[in-house]
Amino acid sequence: MALGSDSRHGMWSSRWLFVLAAAGSAVGLGNIWKFPYITGENGGGAFVIIYLVCVALVGIPIMISEVMMGREGRSSPINTMRKLTDMAKAHRAWTFIGWMGVIAGFMILSYYAVIAGWALSYIWTTAVGTFENATAEVATTTFNEFLSSPLEVVGWQTLFMILTIWIVGHGVSAGLERAIRLFMPLLFLLLIVLLVYAFNSGGFDQGVAFMFDLKFDQVTPETWLIAMGQAFFTLSLGMGTMMAYGAYVPESANIGSTVVIIAVLDTFVAICAGLAIFPIVFANGLEAAQGPGLMFVTIPLAFGQLPLGAIFGTVFFILVSFAAITSAISLTEPALAYLVEEYNAKRKRVAISLGVICWLLGLGTVFSFNIWSDVTFVGGLDFFETVDYISQNIMLPLGGLLIGLFAVWLLPRKVLSEQLGMPDGPVSWLWKLVGGIIAPLGVAAVFAYTIWPMLASLFNL
Ligand code: TRP
Repeated sequence: MALGSDSRHGMWSSRWLFVLAAAGSAVGLGNIWKFPYITGENGGGAFVIIYLVCVALVGIPIMISEVMMGREGRSSPINTMRKLTDMAKAHRAWTFIGWMGVIAGFMILSYYAVIAGWALSYIWTTAVGTFENATAEVATTTFNEFLSSPLEVVGWQTLFMILTIWIVGHGVSAGLERAIRLFMPLLFLLLIVLLVYAFNSGGFDQGVAFMFDLKFDQVTPETWLIAMGQAFFTLSLGMGTMMAYGAYVPESANIGSTVVIIAVLDTFVAICAGLAIFPIVFANGLEAAQGPGLMFVTIPLAFGQLPLGAIFGTVFFILVSFAAITSAISLTEPALAYLVEEYNAKRKRVAISLGVICWLLGLGTVFSFNIWSDVTFVGGLDFFETVDYISQNIMLPLGGLLIGLFAVWLLPRKVLSEQLGMPDGPVSWLWKLVGGIIAPLGVAAVFAYTIWPMLASLFNL
């Protein structure tokens, strides 16, 4: 049905552009900021292996479902879900997937822009040599002082938001594609530069050992759950981003193999980020299990002790900022495409309005680190933590669970065979088993795990 038609928003000019765009969405703060620090906190090697298993067993099947549904619907996730529920004669309530995605996108982007703003500001802070031969104390105070000045943080958040909106306002070809063509090759280049630098830092062997030594004694059930949550976030799953991007995929592209390439690229960048960061950390005798501060305190500090550190530190934060921008644009696409369709509105205008709302919501995150640091919501979380928790730990897994179930069990068989190009046979059974049973069960486990403590604390169970 959809095969042969185009999306009204535009189309990726080739399968490879989709690979770059989806990889651009997937590769972001999740890979460079989060993956290294949670690997550090969870003992290294064993965590990496478990994470790889989660990407393969949960991430890839759900991404296939999302992209396939998007290409079938050829519109924003909300309208795609409307079409697909009609087609499958399923209950309209399934369009909830689309609505929840739009809202989750807003929430994630609101704080994503703030953290990306930190990275932007660190391009400057590092370039002017703040960290040259700095002590750990200097690096910590620099970061804390920056966070405690709302005006400065808002300034960088605003700059990041303007860049994002400016790009998405230009549309799929002139905006998204152009930015992706420019940023993605640069990102890979910068990553290689940093890897070479890390290789020569003197801590490379230790870094590799840390990332790949299998210390299975440190694995707990929780390790699995953290790894699964990370797989979700890093692959941009569960909120319709991949469905929105899937709507612009040419009909000739093979979805299964394309998705595998995207997942491999994303994982490759995460591993490279670890291999670039840990050797530098060990070369300076620093702690791997630093937590979220790893990127903004340990990394500048580590670069500051190495030859040409100011230059390479600057390169590092430019890399992070590029990665964040190509992810941020993908967070706006579900809502943007929907509003354009529903109100026949101009893309630019919609982009600006969305940007303003996200920016306003983001102020809450900015203030969580200074003037509102005492304001807490359910479970003692501050504003930022609340938005992060609800979107990442509740909405994404729920979205992914429903998407997997819908794709495998409700979509008409004809759609599956057209979109995935597979006749009924062992491959199709494997996808059904993994995508329709194993992945939803896995997600349900994470979901239960993250939601239960919150409900329990709410109702004093
Ligand atoms: N995957 C991105 C990262 O790793 C973030 C991201 C972009 C995202 N779009 C998303 C996360 C959609 C969840 C859902 O930084």
